[in-house]
Amino acid sequence: MNVTNNHWLNLPSISLSIRVLFTGYLVAIGFGLLMAGGQILLTHGMADGKLGLSVDDIVYSYYGNRNNSRLETALNGAMKDKASDSTRADIIKWARDGASKPLWDEKFQQVFNDNCTACHGNVPGIPNFNHYDEVKKVAKLDNGSSIDSLTRVSHIHLFGIAFIFFFVGLIFSMAVNIPRWLKATVIALPFIFLVIDVLSWWLTKWSPHFAWLTIIGGAGYTFASMFMWITSIYQMWFMKKNGSQTYLNEWRHD
Ligand code: HEC
Repeated sequence: MNVTNNHWLNLPSISLSIRVLFTGYLVAIGFGLLMAGGQILLTHGMADGKLGLSVDDIVYSYYGNRNNSRLETALNGAMKDKASDSTRADIIKWARDGASKPLWDEKFQQVFNDNCTACHGNVPGIPNFNHYDEVKKVAKLDNGSSIDSLTRVSHIHLFGIAFIFFFVGLIFSMAVNIPRWLKATVIALPFIFLVIDVLSWWLTKWSPHFAWLTIIGGAGYTFASMFMWITSIYQMWFMKKNGSQTYLNEWRHD
């Protein structure tokens, strides 16, 4: 068996230019993943109002908060002292029944005028309750992600990330001294977790009980790709070059 022909397929032995190419790619991908993580913390992570990603955040993002409209939440919370108990109960009932326009014209425009528009109509940055449309918006139940946005985000995510994992896995496949089964498993894992992650969004849209699958999916491919990333960088730059003879690499059928 002639092993010297393909010794360049071992990470510790590859040529400088290939090493620079692989490293450049891995560094860029590494930064990209950090940014993606930061963005997830800032968008989904804040969905429950607290920093840090929790199961609640995922439920709010995908399933929504179907028990309460923003209007009802506010009337039971920050806006509790802005109207009498019976007025608040009236508004909540009207909102739960769909916040109909006829009842708005008949009664609730006046109720909002009496209790709310002193601020909501004068203070910038908060909804203007002189307009039925704005009341209607906060009176709606929050149904989480739409099918439309889920479809879009799913396919972008699957195509884009599968591409990243393909090249990270290809580089890692040239790592040496890693048992064949472990290498194959680590290369397969990100793809499996990626599918779990995307599936979990759809399942969570359907039922909040699946939100933890999203965490497992994300954590799973993060760890698997971190392992490949660190191993690849280490072997390219810090592992003693020893020719290919003593290294075991899947690319050679030994
Ligand atoms: C004294 C001024 C004031 C009055 C009166 C007032 N609000 Fe507010 N409201 C605010 C401010 C300021 C905010 C934004 C800060 C916050 O959420 O606490 C707000 C926020 C809200 C929100 C949250 C909006 C969102 O984007 O989720 C709702 C809903 C709301 N108010 C409903 C009402 C209703 C209904 C009434 C009347 C019964 C009312 N408010 C009366 C000052 C007022």
